[in-house]
Amino acid sequence: MSLKALDPNKTYLITGAAGFIGYYLSKKLLEQGCAVMGIDNLNDFYDVNLKYARLRELEPYEKFTFIKGDISDKEMVLGCFEEYKPNVVVNLAAQAGVRNSLDNPDVYIQSNIIGFFNVLEACRRFPVEHLVYASSSSVYGANKKVPFEETDSVDTPVSLYASTKKSNELMAYTYSHLYKIPATGLRFFTVYGPMGRPDMAYFTFTDKYFAGKSIKIFNNGDFENDLYRDFTYIDDIVEGIERVISNPPAADHGILHKLFNIGNNKPEKLMVFIETLEKCLGKELGREVLFEKIFEPIKAGDVHATYASMELLQNAVGFKPKTPIEEGLQKFVDWYVHYYKAK
Ligand SMILES: NC(=O)c1ccc[n+]([C@@H]2O[C@H](COP(=O)([O-])OP(=O)(O)OC[C@H]3O[C@@H](n4cnc5c(N)ncnc54)[C@H](O)[C@@H]3O)[C@@H](O)[C@H]2O)c1
Repeated sequence: MSLKALDPNKTYLITGAAGFIGYYLSKKLLEQGCAVMGIDNLNDFYDVNLKYARLRELEPYEKFTFIKGDISDKEMVLGCFEEYKPNVVVNLAAQAGVRNSLDNPDVYIQSNIIGFFNVLEACRRFPVEHLVYASSSSVYGANKKVPFEETDSVDTPVSLYASTKKSNELMAYTYSHLYKIPATGLRFFTVYGPMGRPDMAYFTFTDKYFAGKSIKIFNNGDFENDLYRDFTYIDDIVEGIERVISNPPAADHGILHKLFNIGNNKPEKLMVFIETLEKCLGKELGREVLFEKIFEPIKAGDVHATYASMELLQNAVGFKPKTPIEEGLQKFVDWYVHYYKAK
């Protein structure tokens, strides 16, 4: 396998750079001397202070430029491409969250459809060597066959969020085909870690514990038939993206568009994940930690299991995630307790 390494002479445009994944990716590229141009609208979907804290860590790097802007603003997107002429684009800006897409659908269309369309248009007008964009495991919907493979049918998304991600894959395929843009979509599976997203379960459970509140678990209280998630540690996601960005699809039978899963390839029962979080908290705090749990029915839009096949990515770039949840959750807990001075 002959793989290309990152080229520090290139300019990488990362949308959603103040977000969880965008921040870690930007940092990794900057550490290696690359120029990173970050765009983010710094919306308040979750505590915006965390986004500012991430940006503060990026600002000391000389080759980091940040633009506060919305990718649904076409003039802004085109202007950035014209001025900075990125070699590689990584589109991570999106409205995330499955459940929120049932209550606030408009923003999903605005950011994930119109915003992504603007990024595609910019790549057409100012050609790039590679467009990498975030898709999601949610495109697999209620598929029963596991592990989920990239060749599986994904025509039955069960949330608007999933529909927008599937739409991104179709739009990227078309632009790649028509305008010869090398493009890769990455289907991320439940990403977690320090400085992660406060709207995600592991984070809200931890918040609730320190606030002395009970946690709600949407698995019907059925432990025999529990929900399964392929929880993927942030460093593994970033390493996967890093390897992919330097190795754009070569015109394989004329197709310049590829899709890869990035998931842990080891689904965990939700209850095991929660017990591990309790143990990690207990270790950090030096006392027994038990969440007060309330069990409720599964929520509309949620899926029963996610499980990534990693064969395709491993064959392409020789990598699959490796961090066990015990290690990843301990790092999250250590960060959380220090960052929020939690007792
Ligand atoms: N974290 C996960 O578990 C996960 C799983 C699957 C897919 N994804 C996808 O990965 C990407 C990154 O996710 P994340 O977990 O880092 O989420 P995040 O919300 O932390 O990061 C997204 C960032 O994009 C910004 N943003 C949103 N809409 C924007 C717009 N219209 N213009 C400019 N900036 C905008 C937000 O302010 C935020 O900082 C998203 O596309 C998400 O859908 C994440």
